[in-house]
Amino acid sequence: MRRRARCAHDPRMTSPTITADAAGTWKLGDLSVNRIGFGAMRLTGSAAFHLGRPSEREQSIAVLRKAVELGVNHIDTAAFYFSSLRSANELINSALAPYPDDLVIVTKVGPFRDCSGEWGTSARPDQLRGHVEENLRQLGRDQLDVVNLRRMRQDSIAEHFGALAELRDAGLIRHLGVSDVEPRHLAEAQAIAPVVCVQNQYGLHAHRPQTEELLRICGEQGIAFVPFYAVAGKGGPHGPAADDGDEVRAIARAHAGTPAQVRLAWTLQQGPHVLAIPGTGNPDHLVQNVAAGALRLTDDEMARLDALHRQAE
Ligand SMILES: NC(=O)c1ccc[n+]([C@@H]2O[C@H](COP(=O)([O-])OP(=O)(O)OC[C@H]3O[C@@H](n4cnc5c(N)ncnc54)[C@H](OP(=O)(O)O)[C@@H]3O)[C@@H](O)[C@H]2O)c1
Repeated sequence: MRRRARCAHDPRMTSPTITADAAGTWKLGDLSVNRIGFGAMRLTGSAAFHLGRPSEREQSIAVLRKAVELGVNHIDTAAFYFSSLRSANELINSALAPYPDDLVIVTKVGPFRDCSGEWGTSARPDQLRGHVEENLRQLGRDQLDVVNLRRMRQDSIAEHFGALAELRDAGLIRHLGVSDVEPRHLAEAQAIAPVVCVQNQYGLHAHRPQTEELLRICGEQGIAFVPFYAVAGKGGPHGPAADDGDEVRAIARAHAGTPAQVRLAWTLQQGPHVLAIPGTGNPDHLVQNVAAGALRLTDDEMARLDALHRQAE
């Protein structure tokens, strides 16, 4: 039986008693998920971006199983998350199939990457069916729970999103989301089919006015806002900056936590519709990230961090 969060005001960094429901739940369409999820991109390798050295296979499998044991039921992935020897989808399938009934796997399509790892520009709308089917094969599923259209800088996403809406109608996809979009793209997609989540870069020290607006719009409309690089912040694909700064470190110390936990807690406290998908291949970091769901920052701490965030503009 899944353990419940027991010490909601005292994350104690690595307490095994804190589970992914500590920050509550949210619905992606009809699918309920704990607000602390897991991003699978980092499972395939540890160097900058996911072209790095292959991960230790057994460790990646163990991290995935531990995540589910800790109550994580929202995993973010993509068929294009692979390094020379590792595929995030294959690792998820090997570690977790047959999948728990409540596990929601969110994948994304849009970028084009060939078998050698070279990036092309964007998949054409007529290629998206093949990309969706590739995810279905790799994950061993007949339907994908949620598929995000990852925008590749195109001005309009109507054609691509329309192609995914057809695949949803055909039963290959349950729910749709969008990623790396501006508010106008969200509206464009919503005119075609319902959108259950928006996945954009967002985190402490990564302030962008249009993303702040999207965060607000999603909250008003009951759409999940799912930031990537919430831990890495400005470091993005290269991971967290070596120095988090005095303010973040001081707040972490006050909660007997870590700067990464403070970053996650700050992100989650932006609204009940904000979901976290921290990515790690490190089992200790996984436990800390799940425990961050129990860390409650005070109003004063939020104000201090908000000020830092705004300065980053
Ligand atoms: N839609 C998109 O375009 C898009 C783009 C990028 C990512 N994503 C998704 O978003 C997820 C999150 O992004 P991400 O994994 O790149 O960034 P992230 O979660 O913000 O940060 C991951 C980085 O932080 C480190 N880290 C994680 N937990 C830590 C902790 N408790 N203490 C210290 N360091 C920690 C990781 O290294 P260790 O492995 O050493 O812990 C890794 O270098 C991805 O996994 C992917 O699923 C989506």
